[in-house]
Amino acid sequence: MPEAPPQAPARSGAGPALHVEGLHVTYGRAVAALRGVRLTVPHGTVTALLGANGAGKTTLLRAVSGTLRLHRGAVTAGTVRYGHVALDGRDPVAAVRAGVVQVPEGRRVFAGLTVDENLRAGGLGRGRRSPAVVREARERVLDLFPRLAERTGQRAGLLSGGEQQMLAMGRALMAGPELLLLDEPSLGLAPLMVERIADVVRRIHAQGTSVLLVEQNATMALGLADAACVLDVGEVRLAGPARELARTGAVRRLYLGEPPAADAPSSAGRGAA
Ligand SMILES: Nc1ncnc2c1ncn2[C@@H]1O[C@H](COP(=O)(O)OP(=O)(O)O)[C@@H](O)[C@H]1O
Ligand SMILES: [Mg+2]
Repeated sequence: MPEAPPQAPARSGAGPALHVEGLHVTYGRAVAALRGVRLTVPHGTVTALLGANGAGKTTLLRAVSGTLRLHRGAVTAGTVRYGHVALDGRDPVAAVRAGVVQVPEGRRVFAGLTVDENLRAGGLGRGRRSPAVVREARERVLDLFPRLAERTGQRAGLLSGGEQQMLAMGRALMAGPELLLLDEPSLGLAPLMVERIADVVRRIHAQGTSVLLVEQNATMALGLADAACVLDVGEVRLAGPARELARTGAVRRLYLGEPPAADAPSSAGRGAA
């Protein structure tokens, strides 16, 4: 049973996939943040990347988006490919041009600029595009985030945390990504806002965009992902279909805050239901 292939929508496989192979990343000489990580995100799927603080989730996204060097990190071995494009050792511009766009942790927006100006800035990274393409991207974003549509003239710094997360995601979508890298979008948000963000990820996926979703909220992430990967101190500890992983004792204990299923091999005490 655990051998089942990751579930994926019918269009999976129709476009480029992200392939990470044997990836080692270090910061300076002392920190080996990733050690031999392997990960595939098939086209048209949502893959959840789980793991405790410091496991290397952000580092993996940085390696894919070409932003590692900005943080004094370096790929010391392994490869990152998106379709036929090699992304390891490249810069963020190369990743964005290839269709891979990251929403960094901490919902960074230009606080002094308006919502509209933030969105326009997001469209710039993709190079020269026709006004019609940019208009279409903007309409998509405002349709996904009605709250932003109501606040296009407002300064981003005055938005709530949840709205800033929406703006950060909207800005990334302005670049028309094929693969969206989301780093802990639900962090610090109220449950209702977490639900909204999850809904938006579902819709983005339904529109054909692949998503690599880093989350500490494993319940949310496993609820909407096709496949999942658990990082543990720089190494892949578990990987497989999200539904299967959600049933494993280790994931339930470590990330879902639940006792393991009664039928799972475990050492859980009796009467834990
Ligand atoms: N810019 C950096 N310089 C040095 N060490 C870093 C840097 N960024 C992350 N690290 C270290 O790399 C490891 C992985 O961190 P990170 O990728 O941020 O984990 P996660 O996102 O899973 O919390 C941690 O030990 C962290 O302290
Ligand atoms: Mg992180």
